[in-house]
Amino acid sequence: MTPSAASTIMPSIKDAYKDFLNSECGMKSYNRFKCTLYGPGDSLVECLDAEVLGKMPFAVGSKLNICDVGGGDGVRIRRILRYLHDRFNLRFSLDFVEQSSAQIRAFECRDICGFTEVKKHETLFEKWWTGSTYDLVFLIHSIFAFDDSDSFDKVLKLANSNGTIVVVSNAEDSFLGGLKLILDAEYSDRRFEISDVVRNLIGRGVHFDETRFQTRWTLQANDLQAGISSILDWLSLGRYQDLPSGVKQTVRRYIEAKSSPASDGLSFSEEEVVLVITGKDSQSAGAPNPPISSGAELR
Ligand SMILES: C[S@@+](CC[C@H](N)C(=O)[O-])C[C@H]1O[C@@H](n2cnc3c(N)ncnc32)[C@H](O)[C@@H]1O
Repeated sequence: MTPSAASTIMPSIKDAYKDFLNSECGMKSYNRFKCTLYGPGDSLVECLDAEVLGKMPFAVGSKLNICDVGGGDGVRIRRILRYLHDRFNLRFSLDFVEQSSAQIRAFECRDICGFTEVKKHETLFEKWWTGSTYDLVFLIHSIFAFDDSDSFDKVLKLANSNGTIVVVSNAEDSFLGGLKLILDAEYSDRRFEISDVVRNLIGRGVHFDETRFQTRWTLQANDLQAGISSILDWLSLGRYQDLPSGVKQTVRRYIEAKSSPASDGLSFSEEEVVLVITGKDSQSAGAPNPPISSGAELR
């Protein structure tokens, strides 16, 4: 290969994303970002509990089969299971599927083991085989590196006939969605986004419910730079400092346009999408219909 050919090969965002999350600095970057947006109490999990999970008709005292796909360091699923245990007196068997060995190592499950049997699977979801089906399947901010729609077809087969699949992601046209478009321009591919999931479900005639909520956060003047850095470091997968000055300028302008002044700082808002698919609906999925036009209204 000639040097000029080598220099024109663009990396894959999906590979870069998985590699970054398989490093200590990638994990720290993601955790800093989560703390900036969602705070120490994790407002995303609080909303999910209050708006979605707390309203589900669980049989009090029963045992549920749970699958968490791309569970990261497990902090979120632990919070969720503790909430469900406290509210409905549920017990669980958890299949935890995660491609990053660094994240799997960080998953400390002592606080849920009194009511949860945990099986960790260090593997790509696409390579994982399970003989089980599940009452609840979670994909929380974990779809972005999915190979393609086939991976999502595999998700649809995980729920049992009374089961529910819960997919959480930022909206593609949200604050973070726009930033990703700027930061990902140099990659050969693009992230698998919630709109790809929705397109797949509509194409297969699978019914789903959609809930949206806003995550709002304010960065005080003295925390502004650190807060913005935590977002940009995570979204750029640790390479923000090395980006060309033109890209950084576009990012600065974008942030100015998308934030609003607050007393002594800036306020931001991010739209989150939760898709809820029931097992009955996912199992009735047919072969995909012809693709819908890209301009179709998905909401
Ligand atoms: C942004 S993190 C979210 C982690 C966790 N769900 C949370 O909300 O904190 C995405 C996680 O999904 C994992 N992941 C991404 N694609 C995956 C795949 N195809 N198979 C297994 N894990 C995957 C990554 O390694 C990462 O830990």
